[in-house]
Amino acid sequence: MSAEHQTETAPQPLAGKSILLGVAGSIAAYRAADVCSQLGKLGARVTVCLTSGALKFVGEATFRALSRNPVLTDVFVEPHQERIAHIDVAQSADLVLVSPASANVLARLASGMADDMLTACILALPPGIPILAAPAMNTHMWNNPATQANVALLASRGVEFIDPGSGLLACQDVGKGRLAEVETIVSCVLTRFAQMQTMDLYGKHVVVTAGATREPIDPVRFLTNRSSGKMGVALAAAACARGAQVTLIAGAITATVPPGITLVSAETAREMEAACNAAFASADIFIGAAAVADYAVANPSAVKLKKPDAINGTLTLELVQNPDIIAGIGKRKVAGQVVIGFAAETDNLIPNAIQKIQKKNLDLIAANDVTAAGAGFDLDTNIITIIRRDGSSVALPLMSKHQAANRILDEVVTLLP
Ligand code: PMT
Repeated sequence: MSAEHQTETAPQPLAGKSILLGVAGSIAAYRAADVCSQLGKLGARVTVCLTSGALKFVGEATFRALSRNPVLTDVFVEPHQERIAHIDVAQSADLVLVSPASANVLARLASGMADDMLTACILALPPGIPILAAPAMNTHMWNNPATQANVALLASRGVEFIDPGSGLLACQDVGKGRLAEVETIVSCVLTRFAQMQTMDLYGKHVVVTAGATREPIDPVRFLTNRSSGKMGVALAAAACARGAQVTLIAGAITATVPPGITLVSAETAREMEAACNAAFASADIFIGAAAVADYAVANPSAVKLKKPDAINGTLTLELVQNPDIIAGIGKRKVAGQVVIGFAAETDNLIPNAIQKIQKKNLDLIAANDVTAAGAGFDLDTNIITIIRRDGSSVALPLMSKHQAANRILDEVVTLLP
C-alpha cells in the first residue's frame, strides 16, 4: 500500500491550544455557548467549567456538544481515580477565560477561594497562564465599591479584564455591566495568544513522524508497538502554532491531528521511509518521533495463517531488518537542514541516546525512559532529556507532551541557520 495524502485544511490560529472556559451565573451565560463554539472553530481545545449559578441559566449538554469535551461542574467528580481532576485541568490549560464573570465569581477569585470546580482550577493554575475575565452583571453590582475593589485586586495580580459594555441590561437598568460582544471576547483571546506566541518557525517546513509502524504477518496480523502518536502529533501541532508548514508522516496513531497539518499516512517502515524521503527534500526540520519497527516479516503470508501451519506447536517467523529511516535522512541532510531524533530507552538512557546522535548523524536527540512513571507510550505526559551534539543536555521535568514539544522546538530554533 502506498502512502496516502489527506487534503490540507485551512490553518487554525488556535490549533494545539487548550482553553479553560469558565462560565458563571449570569443571564449572559447563554452567550458563552457562542464563545465556546467560535474558539473551537479556531482550533482550540475548549474545556468548559460551569458554576452552580451558570447551571441555573444554561445546560451542560449544550457545552458538551459544542466543545466535544466533558463539562466540569463538580470539584469532587474525579473521572480518574489516580488523578486529581482540577489539578489536571489547571496544568493542561494554556489560557483561562471566565465569560461571563459574575460579581460573585470575581469576589471568590479575589479572596483566593476554591469552593467549586472553577475557582479550584484557577487557584491551581501554574504561574504565567493568562486569565481573561469578561464581567457581566447589573450596573449597580458592577459599580459597587466591593466589585470594583475585587476587579482592581485581581487586575493587580495579572487578571486581564474585557470591559463590559453599557446599555440596556436584562434587568431593564441602563448602564455599564453588559457582557462584551462575543467577537470582542474571541478577538481578545486571539490577541493574547498572539502576544504569547512566537512565530519563530514561520516560513519553515517541518516534517514530523509519529506513531507505530505495522509489519504484516499475514492479511489480518501484524507486528507493531505501543506508540499512540501523541508525542509526534504534539510536536506537529506546536510547530504549526509557531507558524511552520507541517507535514506529519504517521503510522498507526490514536491521537487526533489538528487541522492545518498535512497528514501523510504510512503503514510499514518501508512506506514511512518513502514518505519521509519525499518530504525531506523540502524540509528545514525533520523530527523522528515515530516508533519504527526495526524488523519486518521476511515473507508475509498472502492468506491468513492457520493453526496447522505451526510445526510441533511452533510457528517460526523469519524477520529481516528494516531501513533506519532517520539514519538515512541524517546521511542525506545538507547545510541548513536540522534533524532531530528520539531515543526510547528502558536502561542507560543518556549513553544510549548519545550513541544514537552519532550513529544517525542527528543534530539533537530527545531521550525518554519509556519505563518511567508518566513518560513514554500512550500518555499525555512525558519526561524528556534534550541532548545536544556536544553531549550537553537539559533534563526536563514531567510535563504535558504539548509542553515538551514546545521545549524541544525552543531548542531546535537555536540550531536554525
Ligand atoms: O507515540 P506516543 O505514544 O506518544 O509515545 C511517544 C514515544 C515513546 C514513541 C516517543 O517519545 C519516542 O520515544 N519515539 C521514538 C521511538 C523509537 O523508535 O525510538 P528508538 O530509540 O528505537 O529510535 C531512535 C530514533 O530512530 C527515533 O527517532 C526513531 O524514530 C528512529 N528510527 C528507529 C528505527 C528505524 N527503523 N527507523 C528510524 O527512523
